[in-house]
Amino acid sequence: MARRLTPASVCVLFVAGTVGAAIVTLGAQTPVKAPQPSVTFTKDIAPILQRSCQSCHRPGQMAPMSLLTYQDIRPWVRSIKQRAQNREMPPWGIDPRVGIQSFKNDPSLRQDEIDKIVAWADAGAPMGNAADLPKPREFDDSSKWHIGRPDLIVTSPPHTVPAEAADWWGSYFVPTGLTEDRYIKAIESKAGQTAVVHHLLTYAVDGDDDIDSNGDDSSAESGQFLNEFAVGKNGDLFPEGSGRLLKAGSKIRFDFHYHSVGQEIVDRSQLGITLYPKGYVPKHIEYSKQLGQPTEPLDIPGGSAFVRSDGYTRFNKAGKITAFQPHMHTRGKRQCIELIYPDNKAEQISCADFTFNWHLVYAYADDAAPIYPAGTVLHVISWHDNSANKINPDPRNWVGSGNRTIDEMGFAWISWYDLTDDEYKQELDAKKGARKTTTTSQGQPQ
Ligand code: HEC
Repeated sequence: MARRLTPASVCVLFVAGTVGAAIVTLGAQTPVKAPQPSVTFTKDIAPILQRSCQSCHRPGQMAPMSLLTYQDIRPWVRSIKQRAQNREMPPWGIDPRVGIQSFKNDPSLRQDEIDKIVAWADAGAPMGNAADLPKPREFDDSSKWHIGRPDLIVTSPPHTVPAEAADWWGSYFVPTGLTEDRYIKAIESKAGQTAVVHHLLTYAVDGDDDIDSNGDDSSAESGQFLNEFAVGKNGDLFPEGSGRLLKAGSKIRFDFHYHSVGQEIVDRSQLGITLYPKGYVPKHIEYSKQLGQPTEPLDIPGGSAFVRSDGYTRFNKAGKITAFQPHMHTRGKRQCIELIYPDNKAEQISCADFTFNWHLVYAYADDAAPIYPAGTVLHVISWHDNSANKINPDPRNWVGSGNRTIDEMGFAWISWYDLTDDEYKQELDAKKGARKTTTTSQGQPQ
């Protein structure tokens, strides 16, 4: 993975130089009885690894090594420190300094946790008192469906991942067999062989659409993003009365990134769906579409490190954005979304660093999901890096727009549902009310 010297990593390096100060501040924030002699694995680090790392870093999962025990982590201390400092692990691109910070399933490390890891690594990674060790984390049974028994299970064809091979990006199309339009109530993707499925995203496409997208989730214009397999995620259950349309005769497109792990493994993954009863139309219909396509064809000179593209989509109805997924290719570096309201005020919603290895979906927490009035424009800003700093097929090449992995893209997958103007007003008033309450109870403005 490319080492970037972003403003964030510069700032973290500075923190590393003032570890002592950081620890004193930590002690002052959390009331502790005795002064803390040092940061230890058993007391400070193990809980962080349990929450943010072990879902992937344990036997049988996609990550290359286990981070369950002190013996497991000991050889990796320097690398753990580096990945944590650079915010490369856990994979999570959201910029903590910009916009909304409240997401479902956010595994990212807080700055004080990163400081602890750095201080602990610099102190020689002491194990500490065995009695401090938290109980081992229990993992959900990944063989069971967390959304309940699906009404429909769609299975991808067997795919053989050789013992040693380059990473494989590609798609499979499988008919749903659905003969009438139905609305999805809950949905869950289940990787068959978690060790080799690096990521899996699923889309609903019309029956006649089966162009191989070569790992690119944008060629089927009519496609609707459905769901993502993410380690530790237990499926999406839409709030009562809301759902996603699955059309009669539609197919599921499985977009895989497979990764070899030293032994030949055959994978078949599944998408499980529970449906609302026949004829039922939910009050709120969830859409997921590619929005904010660049207004101009991309024009990215060889060796250029920071090329920007902009795209705009107008929402004709009021609504609520439930999730954001940046989409670029190998030169993608960062993407931001902002809303430009009808009164021309703009608000930054989210910025996320991007790497092609991780197609992450950022689902806003229910009470933090942004709402907007009719006539609001979504502005998508993408930055592309075609320099040797980034893992790059060839930084000497000019790159333009296109569907192949070696071409570039810059749009956002946005999930949203429409609100009536009245619903929008109600939600807005509720948000204002909530803000007022927090202000009085905490004595500080939000
Ligand atoms: C979503 C799954 C996932 C999570 C969560 C995750 N990792 Fe990783 N990690 C990976 C994968 C896959 C790789 C190998 C590919 C890569 O290097 O990006 C990796 C690589 C690493 C490496 C580099 C190993 C090497 O070969 O040098 C380190 C160190 C690491 N992770 C530490 C962590 C730490 C610490 C956390 C938690 C704070 C964490 N990871 C959370 C999936 C994950």
